[in-house]
Amino acid sequence: MTSDTDHNGPGYLRSYGRRQGKKLRPGRERLVTELLPQIAVLPGTPVRDLFDADIKSLWMEIGFGGGEHLSAQAQAHPEVGIIGCEPFINGVAKLLSEIDEHDLQNVRIHADDARDMFPDVADGALERVFILFPDPWPKAKHHKRRLIQTPLLNELARMLEDGGEFRFASDHMGYVRWVLAFVLKHPDFEWLAEGPDDWRQPPEGWTTTRYEQKALAGDKMVYLRFRRIPRG
Ligand SMILES: C[S@@+](CC[C@H](N)C(=O)[O-])C[C@H]1O[C@@H](n2cnc3c(N)ncnc32)[C@H](O)[C@@H]1O
Repeated sequence: MTSDTDHNGPGYLRSYGRRQGKKLRPGRERLVTELLPQIAVLPGTPVRDLFDADIKSLWMEIGFGGGEHLSAQAQAHPEVGIIGCEPFINGVAKLLSEIDEHDLQNVRIHADDARDMFPDVADGALERVFILFPDPWPKAKHHKRRLIQTPLLNELARMLEDGGEFRFASDHMGYVRWVLAFVLKHPDFEWLAEGPDDWRQPPEGWTTTRYEQKALAGDKMVYLRFRRIPRG
């Protein structure tokens, strides 16, 4: 049972659904007990120190679900350190199995609410942040739980380097309008739409996520890229 108070962050409401689904298979259970502690984000450790010295830049994916996109990006960009945040343990276990199978050295996991670890991310430390198909919380009385609101954007703006990118995708048009309204009025971001059809095309290097796969048969997909405007 989750509640508003099961998150310790600074006044944040819970933005995710369940933390656990079906019981984990023994192999995945073992990865959670043995591999996760080796690559877990340690509270109080500056994120740059979590990675080897040859890592050139840092990306973060918030709410990676089953980790399909994160794993593909980590394989395609071994020079990038990717921090994945996800409180749903079955999704974490799935990403761990990818990390194990492909021997990925450049992924670190925070198996909890992403917002808990923002204090460990220095100003301008991230080159890219992904939030893909976040929980849309469609009922009006739940909109306050939506992850993307001004406090989160303030944190993204702080953590992103000048010219860094925030990438978002959703099939929920109400949430797309919501995000555009919040981001376009934010002084630190600009929308990188290059043409009228830009937001219908996935950005380069895209891998279909599990949620997107389920949604593909139904509604439209929207992919938005925002740039962190260089500090003055
Ligand atoms: C609809 S799912 C999409 C998952 C994945 N991005 C995909 O496209 O398949 C949204 C995910 O965001 C996660 N989430 C929600 N709030 C979060 C938060 N504050 N920090 C990290 N993850 C969060 C949820 O647990 C859930 O797995």
